[in-house]
Amino acid sequence: MKLIVEKDYQGLSKRAADIIREEMNRKPDLVLGLATGSTPVGMYKELIRFHKEEGLDFSKVTTFNLDEYVGIDKGNPNSYHYYMKDVFFDHINIKPENTYIPDGNAPDLEKHCKEYDRLIEEKGGIDVQVLGIGENGHIAFNEPDDELNVGTSIVKLTQSTIEVNSRFFDSIEDVPKFAITMGIGSIMKARKILLLANGIRKSNVIKELLKGDKISTRLPASILLLHPDLTVIVDEEAYNG
Ligand code: PGA
Repeated sequence: MKLIVEKDYQGLSKRAADIIREEMNRKPDLVLGLATGSTPVGMYKELIRFHKEEGLDFSKVTTFNLDEYVGIDKGNPNSYHYYMKDVFFDHINIKPENTYIPDGNAPDLEKHCKEYDRLIEEKGGIDVQVLGIGENGHIAFNEPDDELNVGTSIVKLTQSTIEVNSRFFDSIEDVPKFAITMGIGSIMKARKILLLANGIRKSNVIKELLKGDKISTRLPASILLLHPDLTVIVDEEAYNG
């Protein structure tokens, strides 16, 4: 694991965007795994700036998002489909047909999950996967449990995640109870992983992860310690607490 500690959120966002730009320069048809949530917003802003100011070209890039709520319309501002368009895709020259996000309204969700993993393989696998981390150690919606899913799956959200995510919804009752998420195996197959964490509320989980000596399904992010190319980028608040 490579650890990068940046002074603040701006530094972390720029560092993550710089790494992605480097990878895109090396491979213009990069397959990029993307995350939602508050953590990567600054990174997306930097990438948009690179596109507008330097012509960073997304026309050959393919993206796969980690997750989506089940039973939420794509047009719902809380859906990850909406987020990705609003925060990133509408501001760069990516082809909409090259952007993949799990469909939480697919008629056959089980089949859709299998097809999602198959599609990732078909596109050559994910080159760089961006991840946030939950306060409870989840990655994507792989929640702490006795067992973790290998492939893309439907999962029940934990009460703690429902509470944390309720900040985006009108009320806690509106937070969906289920989600589709890439599994730990789907994520671990990525060639390179960037895990980002900022702010004081991530400091406990980062401290636990950076101990680096044990893996546990109770701390799903710890499985990433087995990955041969993991870069953890944190700001000083997440690092020092
Ligand atoms: P956040 O979420 O970026 O909004 O903190 C991260 C996560 O829950 O994986």
